[in-house]
Amino acid sequence: MDIYKIRGGKKLEGEVKISGAKNAALPVIVASLLADGETILNNVPDLQDIRTIIKVIQCLGAETSFDTDKKILKINVKGINNGEVPYELVKTMRASVYVMGPLLARAGEADVSLPGGCAIGERPVDIHLAGFEAMGATINLEHGYIKARATELKGNAFTMKKVSVGATANLLMAAVLTGGKTILENCAMEPDVVDLGMFLIKMGAKISGLGTERIEVEGVKKLSPVTYNIMPDRIEAGTYLIAGAITRGNVKITGISPKNIEALIQTLREMGFIIQTGKSWVSVQPSKKLSGTIVKTLPFPGFPTDLQAPIMALATTIQGISVVIETIFENRFTHVPELRRMGADIVIEGNSAIVRGIKKLSAAPVMMSDLRAGAALVCAALAAKGETEIRRIYHSDRGYEDMDKKLTALGAMIKRIPGGKP
Ligand code: EPZ
Repeated sequence: MDIYKIRGGKKLEGEVKISGAKNAALPVIVASLLADGETILNNVPDLQDIRTIIKVIQCLGAETSFDTDKKILKINVKGINNGEVPYELVKTMRASVYVMGPLLARAGEADVSLPGGCAIGERPVDIHLAGFEAMGATINLEHGYIKARATELKGNAFTMKKVSVGATANLLMAAVLTGGKTILENCAMEPDVVDLGMFLIKMGAKISGLGTERIEVEGVKKLSPVTYNIMPDRIEAGTYLIAGAITRGNVKITGISPKNIEALIQTLREMGFIIQTGKSWVSVQPSKKLSGTIVKTLPFPGFPTDLQAPIMALATTIQGISVVIETIFENRFTHVPELRRMGADIVIEGNSAIVRGIKKLSAAPVMMSDLRAGAALVCAALAAKGETEIRRIYHSDRGYEDMDKKLTALGAMIKRIPGGKP
């Protein structure tokens, strides 16, 4: 397994171009199953999770070719079969459950392995399933598999008991080919869900209310394959801004709309960083007076849970107290013990972390426990004194394209060492 060796202390300087959004690409790739013919997706990031979802749609009969240099994914669908989506794939990536929506809508049946818990929390799929039931499906759990059946789905009104990105996307994919009107309430407003919706609209779906709490879908009989550009990754963008901030450097991220990372921009400004924005770029610079702040994760447009770990790494380097409150996932503080190994002063009280900024983090061997915890460790290592060795970097490979190359281009001293210790 590869490891990162990062020598900290170098101020990052320069521009970084943001890749396509993993969490938009995943449902869009699955949604291509809704139409026969060739879908062409541009700006698809070359990531482990993308490779996994490609395998998932191949199980269901799709043919694919992925040009990883040009970031173009071509998907050819000739009908859809309810091939089983095996545990081997679902266990590595929960987004595999996205196939339920298209499968139910087109084949009237879906057999998908029930995802287990994961490093950041229990992550049930009950809202997805309750939504399908509201549309007329019957759901059974047999031998670890969700077996969903529907002779005919029917549009209905359904209120999600909790805002869920995954359930909103899954139900949207089922509703577009479902007869009648589906009204989804308490929807996720994340840009990734909007991107999926725009893709579906381009295919011929009738959807209104994207980016609001209430989405209405008028089912259509058939959708057509299209060419579509995946939106840029707001979490990758935020991570590089934080990486710039933690090294007190001067970093500009390009290809991203500032409104998609407004909550982060506001937090960095509260901490005292100088943020400038243009139509499709954001830059960060330090100021003389930095201070701690309060960060609370919330569904979009609130502060994203996916940036909670990186912002906490930043808070550990800022004099004064910061409080980081995690409200989305119940176990998303696995980076804390690792940051403590680097000298961070963090106390956990329930779902809050109280961070007392210190003068300098110090390098230590640490381990990634999930994708965003991993990003936090990379940020911390960039600011730490000495050389940090980070293991289990397959976690960050799931969601950050060319992370070492992009950081090197900004002047970071980061090396990827093949075949390091597990
Ligand atoms: C998506 O996960 C993202 N994944 C996550 O990114 C992200 O952290 C999360 O949304 C929140 O923004 C993808 O888009 C592939 P949810 P998802 O359903 O859809 C509870 C990353 O690092 N819930 O919005 O699984 C759930 O347990 C990943 O890129 C139910 O109770 O998240 C959580 O507490 C990690 N029942 C809350 O809702 C359900 O049926 C929000 O989860 C579904 C969710």
